Amino acid sequence: MRTLRLCGADVAKGNLILVNSCYPLKVDMPRDHLVSVGPHASPILLERQAAKMLAEVTVILGCGHQILPVSGYRTTREQQTIYADSRREHGEDFAQKYVALPGCSEHQTGLAVDLAENRNEIDFIRPGFPYTGICGHFRQFSIQYGFIERYPAGREQITRIAHEPWHFRYVGYPHSEMMQERALTLEEYTDYLKQFPYRDIHLFFKSNRRDFEIFYVPVQPDKEVAIDIPVGIPYQISGNNQDGVVVTLWRDRP
Ligand code: DAL
Ligand code: ZN
Repeated sequence: MRTLRLCGADVAKGNLILVNSCYPLKVDMPRDHLVSVGPHASPILLERQAAKMLAEVTVILGCGHQILPVSGYRTTREQQTIYADSRREHGEDFAQKYVALPGCSEHQTGLAVDLAENRNEIDFIRPGFPYTGICGHFRQFSIQYGFIERYPAGREQITRIAHEPWHFRYVGYPHSEMMQERALTLEEYTDYLKQFPYRDIHLFFKSNRRDFEIFYVPVQPDKEVAIDIPVGIPYQISGNNQDGVVVTLWRDRP
C-alpha cells in the first residue's frame, strides 16, 4: 500500500468539483493548465485534459466543421461582463436562468465548454445544439470521454440553471458514464458518492473497458487526512468543492 495525504486545498480542485450558486469556485484555474481549443489558435481555452478529450471526440467523429466551441474558460471579470450584458439586453430573469453569477460559473474552472452546431447565426449565450444528427451523436459519444450535459431539462430546481443543451462539463471517465446511467446531475452525484466513504463499502463500477473502485474521503479545511491505496494501479483524486475528495482507482480486469 502507499499512503496519500489529502489536505483542505485538495477539496477545491479536480475534475469533479461542484461549482454552482451554493458552492463558488475557491481557487482560480492556473493559466498554465489551460490550452486553446479549436483548429486554429482560437481564443477559447479549456483545462488541458478536457481540451485533449474534446479534441479526441472531434477527430473520431470528424465533426470539426459541424460543431464549434463558442465559450470555454472565463475569468471572473469576463463572467461579470457576460452577466451584466445579459441582464441589460434580456432582463434579470433571463440572466439568472442562463448565466451563472460571477464566481459561481463552471466556465471559470476551464472544465466547461459551450458548443454550437455550425450555422450562419450562432447565439453566444444560447447556441443551438440539437439532440439529433451529429450533435446528438456527439452528446452520446462524448460520455465515453468524460463529458456530461450539465444542465438537463427537468432538473432546473436542482441545478438552478435553465435547460442548456449546449453546455458540456468535463468530469472525467468513468464518472460521466455513471452519472448518465443513474441520470444524476453533478449536484446529485456529489451527494451520491458520499454514501461510499473510505472507511466503509466502496463503489465498484465495471465498464466494458476497465473496473473502477471509487470512494469519498471527508477532508476538513485545516486537517490532513492519510489514506492507503494499492501500489501500482492508476488512480485519480478530485475534490468536490464542498467537504471532501473522491478517489478513483483504475483496476485491471483479472
Ligand atoms: N451558462 C452557464 C450556467 C454559466 O454561465 O456558467
Ligand atoms: Zn456554458
